[in-house]
Amino acid sequence: MGLYRRYLLPRLIQCACGSPAVERQRQKVVPQAQGEVLEIGFGSGLNLPHYRREQVTTLWALEPSAEMRALAAERVAASGLDLRWLDLPGEAVPLPDHSVDCVVMTYTLCTIADAAAALAQVRRVLRPGGRLLFCEHGAAPDAAVRRWQERLDGLWSRLAGGCHLDREMAPLIASAGFRFDDLQSRYLPMTPRFAGYNTWGCARVG
Ligand SMILES: C[S@@+](CC[C@H](N)C(=O)[O-])C[C@H]1O[C@@H](n2cnc3c(N)ncnc32)[C@H](O)[C@@H]1O
Repeated sequence: MGLYRRYLLPRLIQCACGSPAVERQRQKVVPQAQGEVLEIGFGSGLNLPHYRREQVTTLWALEPSAEMRALAAERVAASGLDLRWLDLPGEAVPLPDHSVDCVVMTYTLCTIADAAAALAQVRRVLRPGGRLLFCEHGAAPDAAVRRWQERLDGLWSRLAGGCHLDREMAPLIASAGFRFDDLQSRYLPMTPRFAGYNTWGCARVG
């Protein structure tokens, strides 16, 4: 499992997260980021081409996995953004209270062990009026798909670095004290339904 987690898994995640359907999701969310931005679970930097350089003053890239940070290196060098790494988990963001304009989370709340604690950190670091831009996969609305998600979740989580299939994303974000400016969801095309129900949008501290 050590070699799998260290060498193969980061590349598998990068491949799965780079599908054309997922790229289209990123394009709906990431270009809205403005000002001082924190991205939690930065991964291999697949969001980088979607940031508008003229809108982003600093990008704090929080990613606890050294392997994912290494995979991101070329994209970071090519990005032209003022990017600063944070190598702690999302449950312990090392930034002051009310210090960022925007937090971006894509396909990360599924994996963070204590998602509620990470969202509490998002609340803490956002300036008044600041926005959480998110796109996540999670619990499907159809009972049959949901049953498969529940059956597969244990095995999937072990193989996919702690990713869960059946988290209820909108209630999770709302219960952390956010209200939605925009909230959308759908199954992604060309994606297995058990992993393809996406929820995305924009939320502010309510
Ligand atoms: C499925 S990948 C998504 C990466 C990236 N956000 C994207 O959209 O391509 C999930 C990422 O969350 C990171 N992660 C895992 N646990 C985390 C935690 N506690 N805090 C922050 N990030 C975490 C993983 O290392 C991985 O890079």
